[in-house]
Amino acid sequence: SPTTVSVQELIKRPLDSVPKRFIRLDSTPQAGPSDLDGLPTIDMKKLLGITSDSSDESFNGELGRLHFSCREWGIFQLVNHGVSSSFLQQLRHEIEGFFKLPLKEKMKYKANPGESDGYGNVVRTEKNHLDWGDRLFMTINPISKRKPHLFPELPPSLRSTLETYIQELKKIAIQILKCLAICLGIDTNLMMDLFKEEKGLETLRATYYPPCPQPELVVGLTPHSDATAITILHQITNCVNGLQIKRNGMWFPVDIPDDAFIVNMGDIMEIISNGAYPSIEHRAMVNTESERISIAMFFNPRLDAQVGPAASLVSPKSPARFRRFIMDEYVKGFFAHPMNGKSYLNGLK
Ligand code: SIN
Ligand code: FE2
Repeated sequence: SPTTVSVQELIKRPLDSVPKRFIRLDSTPQAGPSDLDGLPTIDMKKLLGITSDSSDESFNGELGRLHFSCREWGIFQLVNHGVSSSFLQQLRHEIEGFFKLPLKEKMKYKANPGESDGYGNVVRTEKNHLDWGDRLFMTINPISKRKPHLFPELPPSLRSTLETYIQELKKIAIQILKCLAICLGIDTNLMMDLFKEEKGLETLRATYYPPCPQPELVVGLTPHSDATAITILHQITNCVNGLQIKRNGMWFPVDIPDDAFIVNMGDIMEIISNGAYPSIEHRAMVNTESERISIAMFFNPRLDAQVGPAASLVSPKSPARFRRFIMDEYVKGFFAHPMNGKSYLNGLK
């Protein structure tokens, strides 16, 4: 059976009710829109030590906030990240342009059977349910792992905009990872060895969530935690929110300005930190009014890295909570596993 379904195509004809395969029910309580006071905010300029009041105090203060956000939340918004709003506008324009291409064009980029890279709505749920969203998923780094029919074949203006975006985000991610190592008490060289610039595994997913006639019956993106060290998410809300995080057993909608990035801890960071920085479970919801687009970039250790709790965080008093593994095996296992909350991580305990 074909693995590629396009929700965007589905809604081209008038639709009163959603097809059965999209219907999902979740009994987890849902908090109201104003129940979350807002995500913690981290100031990138302070993490780089380049504010006007540049001082150890401002850097250390921000490190403290970073540590708190990662330990207590697993997610924060990043401001003053240095990527200009005009460039982000350009990026949005290009990504929207991609999803507006005729289906025939987009199908040139479809996922090949058994592969996770590509365009479409790929079934990753236990019961073969579908999510209300189309996505373009691509391996970005190492460059040798880019699929020949994907990134290199994208429309040139999209490709060059993405190339710039990737470089910018990479700088941000590396600085955040260094800071996390400092916060956790892990040797920064050991941490950076996992993410060696040219070898670190980086992937990108752009997701297009069309409006839906019965949004309460579907999910845009199944609840999951990210199989990454950290994820940097940029969203194009068109004034509608969609991202929700699970906190204290409830779903909370996240409301942040489009120009801020959302940074979240993934399963690999939970493992490296031996549980100190738990990955956050999240999902995306849709609405009747408006489309929404998100662009997530995932930063991971190199595929040949041995990953496990950092040695400096393991002692007789605090034994390793996860087993060690090779990154490559972990990634293969992840894509073979249905998306279901934090179940894949729990299998590594
Ligand atoms: C994601 O989980 O990577 C994307 C969530 C979103 O679209 O906000
Ligand atoms: Fe995610």
